[in-house]
Amino acid sequence: MTKREQLYEGKAKKVFATDDPELLIVSYKDDATAFNGLKKGTIAGKGVINNEMSNLLMQRLEKAGVPTHYVEELNERETLVKKVSIVPLEVIVRNIAAGSFSKRYGVDEGVVFDSPTVEFSYKNDELGDPLINEYHALALKLATAEEIDTIKKYAFAVNDFLKAFWAECGVTLVDFKLEFGRLADGTIVLADEISPDTCRLWDSKTGEKLDKDRFRRDLGGVEDAYAEVMKRLSEHV
Ligand code: TMP
Repeated sequence: MTKREQLYEGKAKKVFATDDPELLIVSYKDDATAFNGLKKGTIAGKGVINNEMSNLLMQRLEKAGVPTHYVEELNERETLVKKVSIVPLEVIVRNIAAGSFSKRYGVDEGVVFDSPTVEFSYKNDELGDPLINEYHALALKLATAEEIDTIKKYAFAVNDFLKAFWAECGVTLVDFKLEFGRLADGTIVLADEISPDTCRLWDSKTGEKLDKDRFRRDLGGVEDAYAEVMKRLSEHV
C-alpha cells in the first residue's frame, strides 16, 4: 500500500492517505503531551510499543465481537486502518476511582466500583474536552441516540475483554479512553488506539503505575513502565 500525503498530525500520531480512499496509514510518534498539550515531552520507544499493543488488542477485540478500524500492521510504527470519520466523543470507562474522577468527586484513588462507569467528553481541544452527558451529545449533534447506544455497548464489551486480558498479565485495568468512528456506510467501529497512553494500568501485586500517569505526574521510569506492560502482554499472547 503506497503512502501518500500527510492528512493530519495529532499529538501522538500522524495520519497519511493511501492509494485506496477507504484506507489510511497511522504513524505512531514518541511525542507525549498532557493537560491539553500544556506539558510536552518524549517517551523514547513509545510509538513502537503503542502501535504493537494497540494492534494486538484490536485484533483480539475483533474476535470478541467488537468491530475496529484495524487492517494490517505495516512496520513497527505504522498501521493500515479503515478510514473513519471520528465521533467527537472521548468515551471513558472506569473500574476503579482515579484521575479526574477522584478529583471531581472527592474519592480516593484505588476505590473499586461495584460495576464499571462510562462517561463522555466532548472531543474539542479549544474547550479542553469538557465532560458532557448523552443529552448534551444529542443536542450538539455529535452522535445519534442509536450510535450512543452502540458505543456504550462496545465500550463495556471492550472493558470486559481488556479487564480479563490484563488480569491474566498481572495488570489491573483501572480505566481507559476509547474513540469510535463511522465508516463510509455509517457503521460504528472502534478507532484511535488502546495503549498505556490511553489506559491506567496498575501492577496487580504492587499497585505500581505502568502507564502515562508516570509522565503526567513526573513519577520517573516512564520508558521502563511502557516496556514492562508490553513485555507482560507479549508473554501472554
Ligand atoms: P482522567 O481520569 O484524566 O479523566 O482519564 C481517564 C482515562 O482516560 C485515563 O485512562 C487516561 C485517559 N485519557 C486519555 O486517553 N486522553 C486524555 O486526554 C485524558 C484526559 C485521559
